[in-house]
Amino acid sequence: MSEKEILIQATGIKKSYNTSKTNKLEVLRGIDLKVYKGEIVAIVGKSGTGKSTLLHILGTLDKPDEGKLLFRDKDIFEGTEREIASFRNTKIGFIFQFHHLLPEFTSLENVMIAMMINGKSDRDKALELMKEVGVESRANHKPSQISGGEAQRVAIARALVNSPELVLADEPTGNLDTANANAVIELIFQLRNKFNMAFVIVTHNEEFASKCDRVIKMSDGYITSY
Ligand SMILES: Nc1ncnc2c1ncn2[C@@H]1O[C@H](COP(=O)(O)OP(=O)(O)O)[C@@H](O)[C@H]1O
Ligand SMILES: [Mg+2]
Repeated sequence: MSEKEILIQATGIKKSYNTSKTNKLEVLRGIDLKVYKGEIVAIVGKSGTGKSTLLHILGTLDKPDEGKLLFRDKDIFEGTEREIASFRNTKIGFIFQFHHLLPEFTSLENVMIAMMINGKSDRDKALELMKEVGVESRANHKPSQISGGEAQRVAIARALVNSPELVLADEPTGNLDTANANAVIELIFQLRNKFNMAFVIVTHNEEFASKCDRVIKMSDGYITSY
């Protein structure tokens, strides 16, 4: 195997929220984190410790008050809003606890809409990905016509349709029964082995975390173990 290549590196990330005029909640107190190309990293920690906030910042859905985010050698938050959005749309995929599929559209359309954000409309690619995640037979079904496990697979296809190099997942099995959760976990490893994208996954599922390449623990706005 070749040298490990750092894909994304966060340094000194801090984030606070004003909870009232006089109160500030320090959610991230100085986070340093490297993620290597093709690596699957689990983030674990109690509720309220800043895991989702960190994931949002890694995905540029939110900005830190302090700190840097390097993607390869590029300082992401130094870019214009347009550059940041373009980075997010082309390099990052998101998977959430709830699938957030648009109810009015079919599975295939939901996957294709994510592509259209980048001005592309490659039906074959969308279908191929749906096949990869095992929901090609549900392409013309709407979200209400498929199971929770299938909907999460469609959401995974949607996250991958722009060939991201980093996929951020916030409790992706949190809303699934054990069988579906295990299937999604297997799928994530299968996808990494095939496409070599990195995953950063917030999870409360200990078995899942233990299978990942690395487990990062967060506590009270800090990373307490790498
Ligand atoms: N937009 C916000 N405004 C104010 N407080 C927030 C906001 N987002 C998150 N928080 C608070 O920040 C803390 C960390 O939240 P979060 O990152 O969601 O934690 P986790 O994902 O580890 O449960 C929580 O106390 C939460 O209530
Ligand atoms: Mg959270």
